[in-house]
Amino acid sequence: MSMRGQAGMTQKADVKIYSADCNTSDLIFAGLADLEAQTIPDGWSANAFRSEAEKENGIVLYTLDENENVIGLLTAYTAADEADITNVAVKNSARKKGIAKALLYEMENIAANEIKDIFLEVRMSNIAAIGLYTSLGYERIAVRKRFYSNPVEDAIIMKKKVSEI
Ligand SMILES: CC(C)(COP(=O)(O)OP(=O)(O)OC[C@H]1O[C@@H](n2cnc3c(N)ncnc32)[C@H](O)[C@@H]1OP(=O)(O)O)[C@@H](O)C(=O)NCCC(=O)NCCS
Repeated sequence: MSMRGQAGMTQKADVKIYSADCNTSDLIFAGLADLEAQTIPDGWSANAFRSEAEKENGIVLYTLDENENVIGLLTAYTAADEADITNVAVKNSARKKGIAKALLYEMENIAANEIKDIFLEVRMSNIAAIGLYTSLGYERIAVRKRFYSNPVEDAIIMKKKVSEI
């Protein structure tokens, strides 16, 4: 199975998750960058999202509201039998409805046949994200000092084993 989705769509707890690829419209990549700008300092540009979606080992998932605006996103990449989650963001007004959880489950489904472990980094102060990842079985494995800038902060490295392959 190819790691990249085919602009596919799946349904999880009322959240439809789409997978971006080279056929995805510029409007979607602009929407991903907009959401990123609202939620994360120094977030990715539309071009950065497109470039990741076009890579063989890149994963770019998103969800839309009823007006087709991007309200949730997740990016990750795979290397050998590991995956690294690089972005997770949900629009402020759409939080606490299970969107991030659905994005993370979809990521696990896409990658499950080919990877053993998923890794991610999270700011030490990001209680919501740490709560999210812990609720899904991610475990703290290390602290990386001064990993983030703007503002400078340590990162917690978390890991989830998703298969024994
Ligand atoms: C972190 C974030 C992605 C969560 O998105 P979300 O769609 O609101 O999360 P979900 O509704 O799927 O929540 C799933 C679980 O995460 C945990 N969680 C979510 N928000 C939380 C909060 N504010 N405080 C504590 N736990 C929280 C809970 O365990 C929740 O399960 P529950 O609703 O059954 O209690 C969102 O707050 C966000 O976009 N934050 C800004 C960007 C960011 O920090 N990204 C992560 C970078 S590492």
